Amino acid sequence: VPVAVLISGRGSNMAALIEAARDPAYPAEIVRVISNRPGTQGLQTATDAGIETAVVDHKACPTKAEFETALATAIEDSGAELICLAGFMRVLSADFVARFAGRILNIHPSLLPAFTGLDTHERALTAGVAVHGCTVHIVNAELDAGPILIQAAVPVAADDTAASLSARVLAEEHRIYPAALAAVARGDLKPVNGRIVRKGLA
Ligand code: GRF
Repeated sequence: VPVAVLISGRGSNMAALIEAARDPAYPAEIVRVISNRPGTQGLQTATDAGIETAVVDHKACPTKAEFETALATAIEDSGAELICLAGFMRVLSADFVARFAGRILNIHPSLLPAFTGLDTHERALTAGVAVHGCTVHIVNAELDAGPILIQAAVPVAADDTAASLSARVLAEEHRIYPAALAAVARGDLKPVNGRIVRKGLA
C-alpha cells in the first residue's frame, strides 16, 4: 500500500516508518514525504533514504484552503492511499479529513484521550500521572480524538523531566507507529463507524 508521510520537523517517526518499510514483507511503501516547512531535518533524512520529498509551505499559501488544496494534490499525485502524520504541526480541516476519510493516521505523544494538543509531557508531569505513553489513531475532524489503533504505556519516574519522559515515550512511538501502519495496510485494523474493528472479530 503506497503511503505519504507528512512532517514538520525532525522526522524521527518518519524515519522509523521508512526503516520498517525497507523490509520486503512490510505491507506499506513510503512513496513521498511532504513537509509544510522547508529545510527540515526530516526532509534531509528522507532524501538520504532515497525517498521522494515535497514541500508545501503553509506560509507561502494565502489561505488555509489553498494550503490544503496544494497538500491534497501533493498527496494524490504521489499515488498514496494512506497518509501518516508524523510530527505534522498543522491542524487539518474537516473538509480535508473528509477527502481522505479513514485513511489518515496520526501519532500523538500521550495516552489519549488524556493530554490532547501540545506540551503533553510537561502536562503529564504537572498532572502527576504514574503512567504516560503514546497513541496511534485515525484522524477525524476533531483534534486528537479519532479512533485509537494502538497505544503504548511507559512508567513516569519521580525524577523525570519533560525531556527524559519524552525520550522514553519516543522510543515507544518508533515501535508502535510502524506496527499500526502495517495493521491498517493489511486491513487487520480498520475504522468502521468511528470505531476500530479488528479483522476476524465482529
Ligand atoms: C513526536 O513526539 C510526535 O508524537 C509528536 O511530535 C513529535 C515529532 O517527532 N506529534 P518526530 O518529528 O517524529 O521526530
